[in-house]
Amino acid sequence: MKITKICCIGAGYVGGPTMAVIAQKCPHIQVTVVDLNEERISAWNDENTDNIPIYEPGLDTIVAEARGRNLFFSTEVDKAIDEAQIIFISVNTPTKTYGKGKGMAADLKYIELCARQIARVAKSNKIVVEKSTLPVRTAEAIKSILDTTGNGVQFQILSNPEFLAEGTAVQDLLSPDRILIGGDTTEEGQKAIQALVDVYSNWVSPEKILTTNVWSSELSKLTANAFLAQRISSINAMSELCEKTGADVNEVARAIGMDSRIGPKFLKASVGFGGSCFQKDILNLVYIAKSYGLNEVADYWEQVIIMNDHQKRRFSNNIVQTLYNTVADKKIAFLGWAFKKDTNDTRESAAIYVADDLINEQAKIAVYDPKVSRKKMVNDLNYLETRAAEENERSIFTFENPYLSCENAHAIAILTEWDEFVNYDWQRIYDGMQKPAFVFDGRNILNKEKLEAIGFVYQAIGS
Ligand code: NAD
Ligand code: UGA
Repeated sequence: MKITKICCIGAGYVGGPTMAVIAQKCPHIQVTVVDLNEERISAWNDENTDNIPIYEPGLDTIVAEARGRNLFFSTEVDKAIDEAQIIFISVNTPTKTYGKGKGMAADLKYIELCARQIARVAKSNKIVVEKSTLPVRTAEAIKSILDTTGNGVQFQILSNPEFLAEGTAVQDLLSPDRILIGGDTTEEGQKAIQALVDVYSNWVSPEKILTTNVWSSELSKLTANAFLAQRISSINAMSELCEKTGADVNEVARAIGMDSRIGPKFLKASVGFGGSCFQKDILNLVYIAKSYGLNEVADYWEQVIIMNDHQKRRFSNNIVQTLYNTVADKKIAFLGWAFKKDTNDTRESAAIYVADDLINEQAKIAVYDPKVSRKKMVNDLNYLETRAAEENERSIFTFENPYLSCENAHAIAILTEWDEFVNYDWQRIYDGMQKPAFVFDGRNILNKEKLEAIGFVYQAIGS
């Protein structure tokens, strides 16, 4: 089948960048990204590409090139479904906050709504692609909903999980480690797989396009995220032991990373991993394992989350303890709020939890982040429901200028590894602070010797 029209439901962190790159690389395919969120769609359509809703290095240029040519953002979901031969589902799949599986299972209500809408609207055969991260065997549920249409339309369901990381989304999409496509083993299933392989083949080499059965593909996505997060929790566990023993976690990471079987990536000790997916996907994996009665498997993966929660709490406890057991009314400056550098995404950022702990201790938090708005920070805290919204408003101060956020502070906590933090005038910052001037580097990005020479009391993770 020659593909000329693609639609993607969900114009978020995955749908937006993924479709922009497909449109750029496949000028012969019309790509329409739809969303119920009108504000988001109008931001994607903003003439000034600085205002598109997602900040990713390089994304604005790609959108500027393809938008209006063969890339469209719209709220007309039915129309886009009707016209497309391939429909990507890229909606959010958050952790359930109610009912059975609350706090663990993936909430599939948005997925189900998409499937019902496709079933209602489709008048011709469609390939439906799971782009969202889903529990293994979700394709079965989608298929059973689609097959209720009874109007003779044939659906093929593919799983094509996304492996991009935020902050490097464009680079990851342009040269992916692999593209994974799972589909039915039937002849029709294989044809559908081939249609999607042909789309990616416009810029990805054949040896990087992997095809499997649907269940392997669905489960590989959860497995990849579990393994990645597990490495961070493993090095973070070692960071605490390093602090007790005089070992330095950066040296340990380097030493083990040179073993080619271990490899050097994803071994940076930190204040804990954040982001919308690692925690949600592991909780989902734990829930699935438990639902099959595999309690040891569930417990094994749950430790990754337990360790991560511990690492965040340990960081805030250490600040309180070091500041003579009280931070009440003290100004603590946060450099960074995003869950990692080069993104404006704050979902599950460690900064939120550290701030929440310190506000419980009546600290005043002064935040500077180059890409995150005050509104987002306050919303993040409100979402935890620890205290009244007005109290969050009163406890958090935000600055457009990092030097002002650090002025008169008792301590600075580095929560995000933004490159610009390294090159600040640290002498100037020191001069403006309360003494002793403490720096808690939750990302191990600053130079200990340099800061100590200025006069800071400097503490990193794992040394
Ligand atoms: P997101 O919240 O940024 O975007 C999802 C969008 O879907 C929202 O704009 C929402 O309005 C829209 N939506 C929800 N239901 C809809 C419906 N019925 N019709 C139309 N639009 C609807 O989420 P995201 O970060 O893009 O993640 C999407 C999926 O991709 C998740 O399953 C996630 O686990 C997975 N994923 C995310 C990343 C990442 O880096 N963020 C990476 C890989 C995979
Ligand atoms: C992660 C995966 O890397 C992607 O492959 C996956 O597609 C995505 O989740 C997803 O499914 O959503 P992302 O969360 O965007 O991507 O970013 P990462 O680079 O993985 O960072 C996650 C968190 O781990 C960040 O808070 C980061 O600071 C932290 N981290 C990462 C460390 O603390 N140490 C490290 O060595 C690496």
